[in-house]
Amino acid sequence: MTLIDRYAVFGHPIKHSKSPRIHRLFAEQTAQSLEYTAKDVPAEQFQAAVATFFTEGGKGLNCTVPLKELAWNYADHKTERAQLSKAVNTLALQPDGSILGDNTDGIGLVTDLTANYRIALSGIRILLLGAGGASRGIILPILEQSPQTLVIANRTVDKAVKLAAEFHGKGPIAGCGFDDLNDRQFDLILNATSASLSGQLPPLPSGLLAENGNCYDLAYGNEPTAFVRWGLENHAAKSLDGLGMLVEQAAEAFFIWRGVRPKTRPVIEMLNSERRL
Ligand code: ATR
Repeated sequence: MTLIDRYAVFGHPIKHSKSPRIHRLFAEQTAQSLEYTAKDVPAEQFQAAVATFFTEGGKGLNCTVPLKELAWNYADHKTERAQLSKAVNTLALQPDGSILGDNTDGIGLVTDLTANYRIALSGIRILLLGAGGASRGIILPILEQSPQTLVIANRTVDKAVKLAAEFHGKGPIAGCGFDDLNDRQFDLILNATSASLSGQLPPLPSGLLAENGNCYDLAYGNEPTAFVRWGLENHAAKSLDGLGMLVEQAAEAFFIWRGVRPKTRPVIEMLNSERRL
């Protein structure tokens, strides 16, 4: 008897996760036989739930908020991008029985920007708003694109400065507060604060976005986020949200697990057609 390969996403809450749908569409498209489910796992049950999953034959897991740091701790070994991001969104069972931890969020964002929207990151001035977990996860893949500069701006200035310092030696990166943004201009502004989800915006000076510059909110929703609206009001060439990043990070996880790269465009188009942007 052949058992079907099992995958899952753990999170808390998890009800609205699009990951099962995305991975099932990938499996269908690439004719891979697998099962992908979602499970609500509170942080205090994480360790036991993951151990049970892999003991019972699970092949790979996605972990989302608030479990990414716990997944980082759980992994036996990690990729460099996961190591530096201190968060893991993908666990993969290895042939020797060990568990590899990776973080595909950053490469998901970079692929959405560069491949889907043709926004080249090399040589441009990038501003990253926020210095929490979401920011940390994307910094290395962005620096690997060789931007002219990557500035992290945060409400708590100290956190931005410290986060930037962790990546010194990996590229031109600096941290500052929102007050330090006056008279500066950027070609791409990325919003990784959690403010957008509650309809709030960091205080951003007018003139911050360069002519023909672009905006990208790592969050997404059925309606344009507050930051996507800010981008439109400030004449962004493109003002995008993170739906494409979600699909691209999933595709990268699928590739890690299955060695097959699914086509993301039809999945992004399908999810996009189901909302009212
Ligand atoms: P996540 O894992 O989503 O990044 P987090 O680690 O709690 O969550 O970080 C949230 C980020 O959003 C932080 O950079 C936070 O700023 P502080 O470090 O100063 O707390 C930022 N943030 C949240 N609400 C904000 C608001 N109303 N204005 C500006 N920044 C905000």
